[in-house]
Amino acid sequence: MTQDEMKKAAAAAAIEYVESGMIVGIGTGSTANHFIDLLADIKGKIDGTVASSEASADRLRGHGIPVMSLNEAGQLSLYVDGADESNKYLHLIKGGGGALTREKIVAAASEKFVCIADESKLVDVMGVFPLPVEVIPMARSYVAREILSRTGGTPVLREGFTTDNGNVILDIHDLEIMEPVKIENELNSIVGVVTNGLFAARPADVLILGTPDGARTVSP
Ligand code: A5P
Repeated sequence: MTQDEMKKAAAAAAIEYVESGMIVGIGTGSTANHFIDLLADIKGKIDGTVASSEASADRLRGHGIPVMSLNEAGQLSLYVDGADESNKYLHLIKGGGGALTREKIVAAASEKFVCIADESKLVDVMGVFPLPVEVIPMARSYVAREILSRTGGTPVLREGFTTDNGNVILDIHDLEIMEPVKIENELNSIVGVVTNGLFAARPADVLILGTPDGARTVSP
């Protein structure tokens, strides 16, 4: 089974969490795209979706699936999204696609967060994948200096990239994340940071991993 087939197997297993009349929060990335494509088959069952990025909203609309704003939708019962890394506590690194802030907002507003990924995303210690931080453009240089002095990690500007919110991304390399909640809070306390890609204060509730033998569910 290819990595993409494993992502699709995880997405298919997450469809089981969709119930009639739900408004479903939708993540961003290649695994979330598989979920969107499979959701199209049962679109009559749900009341609508809230998307975490313009790209996902476009894909949902392309399937004729209604997309509404989070403000219209209110509290969501379910959010389904991918991840760049997860540990066994279902703390995540997200934001490889740059949608971390909207993803974090939709996750915060959802009762259940089902994370879908291929098995390569499960790691012992997070940080091999560079940690994305969304930053207000005028604060970029200041925030980079603060990241270096507070974490010891190396911030690298994601060249030529602007988020859906009009901001830039600094990817932090060389981090070994032993205390994810602490690092998440520390980074968010730097003035000029919108948010960072650690989902530890609000981890996933369920992790579905695609493996060569099919989908496997991990609970914290
Ligand atoms: C988007 O900003 C990310 O958080 C994605 O959820 C993450 O990068 C996973 O992407 P893939 O599903 O493409 O691996």
